Amino acid sequence: MHPLQCVLQVQRSLGWGPLASVSWLSLRMCRAHSSLSSTTCPSPERQEDGAQKDFSSRLAAGPTFQHFLKSASAPQEKLSSEVEDPPPYLTMDELLGRQRKVYLETYGCQMNVNDTEIAWSILQKSGYLRTSNLQEADVILLVTCSIREKAEQTIWNRLHQLKALKTRRPRSRVPLRIGILGCMAERLKEEILNREKMVDVLAGPDAYRDLPRLLAVAESGQQAANVLLSLDETYADVMPVQTNPSATSAFVSIMRGCDNMCSYCIVPFTRGRERSRPVASILEEVKKLSEQVLQLIHERDNICKQIHLPAQSGSSRVLEAMRRGYSREAYVELVHHIRESIPGVSLSSDFIAGFCGETEEDHVQTVSLLREVQYNMGFLFAYSMRQKTRAYHRLKDDVPEEVKLRRLEELITVFREEATKANQISVGCTQLVLVEGLSKRSATDLCGRNDGNLKVIFPDAEMEDVNNPGLRVRAQPGDYVLVKITSASSQTLRGHVLCRTTLKDSSENC
Ligand code: 5AD
Repeated sequence: MHPLQCVLQVQRSLGWGPLASVSWLSLRMCRAHSSLSSTTCPSPERQEDGAQKDFSSRLAAGPTFQHFLKSASAPQEKLSSEVEDPPPYLTMDELLGRQRKVYLETYGCQMNVNDTEIAWSILQKSGYLRTSNLQEADVILLVTCSIREKAEQTIWNRLHQLKALKTRRPRSRVPLRIGILGCMAERLKEEILNREKMVDVLAGPDAYRDLPRLLAVAESGQQAANVLLSLDETYADVMPVQTNPSATSAFVSIMRGCDNMCSYCIVPFTRGRERSRPVASILEEVKKLSEQVLQLIHERDNICKQIHLPAQSGSSRVLEAMRRGYSREAYVELVHHIRESIPGVSLSSDFIAGFCGETEEDHVQTVSLLREVQYNMGFLFAYSMRQKTRAYHRLKDDVPEEVKLRRLEELITVFREEATKANQISVGCTQLVLVEGLSKRSATDLCGRNDGNLKVIFPDAEMEDVNNPGLRVRAQPGDYVLVKITSASSQTLRGHVLCRTTLKDSSENC
C-alpha cells in the first residue's frame, strides 16, 4: 500500500481530513512524551489547578507510538461524524455533551450559517442540548467572520460582554465555556487565547468534527484549539441541522474554501483550499429538503396543494435531446411519489409540441403521458427555435409548422379531456375558496382559487359569516368562503357560495 493511502485510511477511520488527522496522530504521540502540544494550551493562571494535575497524570498514562500503529493497521472504511474512538486521555463519558446547553451565535456570510448547522449537527450527536437563551447556556460558541476589520471588532466587543457573563456566573453552576469558531479562530489562532483568556475553545472551519473533544478538554479547565486546515474536509457525511426551524429558505453548501486569491481577500487563508462536496452527498441533502417541502405542503392548510411539474415531453428520446436530465419513467415515478405524499394534490405541467427531431411516435408518447398523469392544469406550446440556444446551434428545427400546430391541437384536446375528468371529481363537494375579485367574464360573478389553485367562479351573493351568525356579508378579495361546486370544465369550477369563513375554522371542521 502506498504510504499516503495508508494515512488516508487512518483519517477515514477517524472521520478526519488529511491534515487534521496527521497532526492529530502526531499530537497523540507528542502528548505521550511531553505535556506541550500544539492544540491544547494550558493557560498560565490555571496551571496549578487540581484539574490540571489530574489531566497531567492521565497524560502520563496516555498512548504510546503503538497506539498510533494499532489504529493505522486496523483501518475502517466508515466515514462518520460520531466520535467512536475517544482519544486515550479522554473517556467516552467526557466526550459526551452530558446535556450541557449550547448557545450558538452566527456572524457573517451564508457559509457561516451552514457552518453553524454543521457544528450543531456534530454537537447534537454528541449529547449536547441547544438553547436560544444566553443566560441558560453552559457553552457559548461564536461562529465568526474575518472578512473585514469591522467584523472582527464586533466579535471582540461581544467577547467583552461574554466575559462579564462568565465572571458573574454563580459557582453553583458548571463553569461557562466560550468558544470561537470559524474564520477568526483560523486567522488569529492563539492570539485569541492569549488576548482573551476566557476563551476556552478555538476551532477553525475544518475542525468542527473535533468540537466534542475540544469541549471535553475545556471541561478540565484547559484551553483547547484545533485550527488545522484540510484539503478534503467537506463535512459530506454531516447532515446540517437547520438552525431556525421556521426558516423560509435553506442553503445547501456545495464547496468549501477558495483558491482564487483575490488580492484583497482573507478567505483563502481562513477557509483553506477549494474543495467540492461529493455530488452524492449534495443530492442526498437536496432530496431531504424536497421531502420536507412535500411534507409541509401535505400538513399545512395555508399552503396550496398544487405542484407545477413541467414535463415538456412524454418521450425519453426527446427529453434527452432537450437535455432535461430525466426520463419519462423517472418523471412518472416522481408523480407517483408526490401523489402518495400529498393525497389530492393538483398537478400542472408545461409541454412543447414539435421539438427538433420529434417523431410521430414521440408525439404519441406525450399524448399518453397526458392521459397517464391526468393534469389539472396545463400550458402547451408549439416549439419555436430561439437564437443562441443549444438547439439553435446543434439541432435542426425539422418539424414542419403545420405538423407542430396539429400536434399541439391534439395535446390540447387530450389535456382538456383529462383535466375535465380530473376536475369533475369536485362536483358536489364543498370547497374552501380564497376570493380574488370580480370574474373577468361577468360583473355579477366573483372569482377565487381552491386549494388546488384552480379557478372557482360563483355568483356575488350575500351570505352568512360563520364568526358572526346573523350577519349578512358580501365576499371581498382576501376572504375565505365555502363554495358548493356545481360544474367543472378543464379550466374552471363553478358553484354557489355558502358562507364566509376563515382558514382556521374551515380546517378545524374538515
Ligand atoms: N418554444 C416553445 N416553448 C418553449 N418554452 C420554453 N422555450 C420554448 C420554445 N423555444 C415553454 C416551456 C417552458 C415554458 C415556460 O415555455 O414549456 O416550460
